[in-house]
Amino acid sequence: MYKFLIRPILFCFDPEKVHYFTFSLIRFFSKIPGVPFIFRLLYVVNDKRLETEVFGLKFKNPVGLAAGFDKDAVLYKELSNFGFGFIEIGTLTPKAQDGNPRKRLFRLKQDGAIINRMGFNNKGVQKAISELKKNNGVLIGGNIGKNKSTQNENAFTDYLICFEALYNYVDYFVVNVSSPNTPNLRDLQDKVPLTQLLQTLQNKNEEHFITTQKKKPILLKIAPDLSDEQLLDIIDIVNETKIAGVIATNTTISRKGLLSDNKAEIGGLSGKPLTQRSTEVIRFLSEKSNKSFPIIGVGGIHSAQDAIDKLEAGASLIQLYTGFIYEGPALVKAINKLILERK
Ligand SMILES: Cc1cc2nc3c(=O)[nH]c(=O)nc-3n(C[C@H](O)[C@H](O)[C@H](O)COP(=O)(O)O)c2cc1C
Repeated sequence: MYKFLIRPILFCFDPEKVHYFTFSLIRFFSKIPGVPFIFRLLYVVNDKRLETEVFGLKFKNPVGLAAGFDKDAVLYKELSNFGFGFIEIGTLTPKAQDGNPRKRLFRLKQDGAIINRMGFNNKGVQKAISELKKNNGVLIGGNIGKNKSTQNENAFTDYLICFEALYNYVDYFVVNVSSPNTPNLRDLQDKVPLTQLLQTLQNKNEEHFITTQKKKPILLKIAPDLSDEQLLDIIDIVNETKIAGVIATNTTISRKGLLSDNKAEIGGLSGKPLTQRSTEVIRFLSEKSNKSFPIIGVGGIHSAQDAIDKLEAGASLIQLYTGFIYEGPALVKAINKLILERK
């Protein structure tokens, strides 16, 4: 129904307007008594065999919603009714910011892709916390970044502010240094600043452990455009700082093999053209590290088989964004079903 009825209508309108319109629709329908139950009946696959324990957390199933969809944590409860085992909110920054001027989100229909240059538009970390206080059981990842106005030499402070503020409200953290839409952000992926940043956050984590006996898993989200040499550096950094794992991958700046007229738009490309590269990155990290840390696989999952490919390449969990837009919530169920069939 989504692909043949709902999607053709939604795809006639501006993508960003459709995003917020869909949020309003989901929120409206979810308030009608019985509707959340029907959503769950349609999309949630309840089966103990899907339960996955990774970095000390228990996931009801390994299929998550990737960062950027529910940046301000305003819809995570309703979205969990579409069958996701976890929802990643953010990227959040200390202060609210508008992001880049519109238009900044483009569908590449012929390629099954999206280009975005949103630029971390979000209402700031405190607003998200007010939403997260209402959480009753959805497993949440908190994806954190820096404000555009913060220079890279002061970036650590922004990550620390978000880390400390969100500490009691999220289950794991993601350090995002791989978005192509904040000027110079990706420079923080270099070995020296990245090691320092992750070590600073890990030190804070240790301080929390001393006082509360609790630590939060910290993951690093990386770009698909890193060279093999840079990926080997990432393995060293993860082992040195002992962070919990890696999310591979964010959007790409590559435009290889695209057909759509609007392929030259500036920003990060996601969806089908990213499928193969992100799986390659997962396989490389998994093999070269001897599986020494867990990987969340994301990038171009548009079918249940795409998800299996990522799990077989070494991912412990997977996430969707563009595939969810193109295929709808039935994709989440199809993935969980295929995982069960293969057990
Ligand atoms: C419109 C849009 C906004 C995004 N915003 C963020 C973000 O704020 N933080 C982040 O880490 N990733 C963000 N992403 C990247 C996704 O989380 C994901 O890593 C990427 O799109 C690849 O997965 P996909 O091919 O399934 O979309 C965004 C992606 C899209 C399409």
